[in-house]
Amino acid sequence: MAGTAVYVTEAESRRQQEFIREIRELPQRPKTYHVVTYGCQMNAHDSEKIAGMLEEMGLTEASVREEADFVIFNTCCVRDNAERRALGNVTWLKEVRKTHPNLMIAVCGCMIQEPGMAEKILKQYRFIDLAFGTANLHRLPEMMYTALNSDRSVVQVVQEDVIAEGLPVRRLRQDAAYLTIMYGCNNFCSFCIVPYVRGRERSRQPEDILREAETLQRSGVKEIMLLGQNVNSYGKDLEGEGRMSFARLLRELDGMQIPRIRFMTSHPKDLSDELIDAMAGSRHILPQFHLPVQSGNDEILRRMNRHYTRAQYLDRVSRLREAVPGIGLSTDIIVGFPGETEEQFQDTMRLVEEVRYDGAFTFIYSPRVGTRAAAMEGQIPESVSSERIQRLIQLQEKLQKETMKRFLGQEEEVLVEGLSRRSDRAVSGKGRHGVSVTMPGELEDVGNMIPCRITEIKNNTLIAERI
Ligand code: SAH
Ligand code: SF4
Ligand code: F3S
Repeated sequence: MAGTAVYVTEAESRRQQEFIREIRELPQRPKTYHVVTYGCQMNAHDSEKIAGMLEEMGLTEASVREEADFVIFNTCCVRDNAERRALGNVTWLKEVRKTHPNLMIAVCGCMIQEPGMAEKILKQYRFIDLAFGTANLHRLPEMMYTALNSDRSVVQVVQEDVIAEGLPVRRLRQDAAYLTIMYGCNNFCSFCIVPYVRGRERSRQPEDILREAETLQRSGVKEIMLLGQNVNSYGKDLEGEGRMSFARLLRELDGMQIPRIRFMTSHPKDLSDELIDAMAGSRHILPQFHLPVQSGNDEILRRMNRHYTRAQYLDRVSRLREAVPGIGLSTDIIVGFPGETEEQFQDTMRLVEEVRYDGAFTFIYSPRVGTRAAAMEGQIPESVSSERIQRLIQLQEKLQKETMKRFLGQEEEVLVEGLSRRSDRAVSGKGRHGVSVTMPGELEDVGNMIPCRITEIKNNTLIAERI
């Protein structure tokens, strides 16, 4: 699969820059924007790029969507409920338009990239001005310019494995930043739509990533989150001298002065010993790992096309724990995959019991049109899946209370994200192991790394005192 990525040329970037300048001068352009984001960190980061471009066009952010002249829905389609939520909100905006006639509405993101979806949406929701896929993000200035100069809807959806460098980014947080290292996915897990809507795996050039990391370091970020659907296969599609594995890329980044490095997501089949060693010997890579297992049963894993067995997964977990003692572990689990029997579900329950995760995201299987699993026999009724997921959640919550006890009395360092939801005299953030921690504090602490000692566990959150 080497060399499938298409780089956006400098000439094309300059063309888009010209549209940005033109829009800034247009009297009829929107003055404020609001981006509504669904889905994963990839989408969150895309929204930061959308905001970055809009700010360059002279727009400013409206904190609520009712007050914005331009509302952008960045959609996700990984599960049915994500899709329904996005469309429900789009319909609601139609009402807002009655009192705000110049309101501009765009729908973009993964859902638009589904075959036939853009046409379907535009037919059903005629008031949408712009629809564009994930591969067309860098052309937003041009699309907006066209939309502002006509009364037709503008649609752009191409299936192209593009890499667009140099887009402006307006970060959600000043202290922490996303850094994409690769786009797309080649794994085609049988339940998953992501490879169809995000295209083939393509790695950014190491020098582009390192340059961006240096810029972030200079701007004083405390934490970077490396992004990719499967970061462990970073570099496999690169050619030539500068080629790098994910483990080597991590070593390079670890050599810089950014205090915290995290990454998402890892596929267990590609979790190499080299990567585990890189983590073990690191200064800045946080002792945490998100390792989606999906199921604890071999037959289900095979039909999910995951390319590992339960035993191989457990082996990776023990190697990680040996190399990085106390590492924070989290996972994703799907229940009710087609054909899943009670006994096979029990294998998942037993695996959760055996691993003892610090956190688990649990999902009811949702059939996605075009994926292999959607056409499989033995689709599980919702009533069965919801009952299973309830049992799984209960088990995980019970176990989590116990795993968290290992932090009691320990020192931690917390990057404060905001005031605690329960009190305005407390702040919360993430510790080095990826677990949420709450401690006494105030607004000024946001964005700082604060040393503390864990004293208590309350509602699956760690409570700490400052030291
Ligand atoms: N690339 C990441 C996952 C991206 S999707 C990885 O491989 O880990 C995030 C999670 O959504 C997946 O791990 C899976 O647990 C869940 N998911 C994906 N497709 C799903 C579907 N059709 N139904 C239910 N859950 C799904
Ligand atoms: Fe989906 Fe699997 Fe790719 Fe993750 S690795 S994005 S679950 S196909
Ligand atoms: Fe959703 Fe797209 Fe992410 S489908 S989970 S937003 S890659």
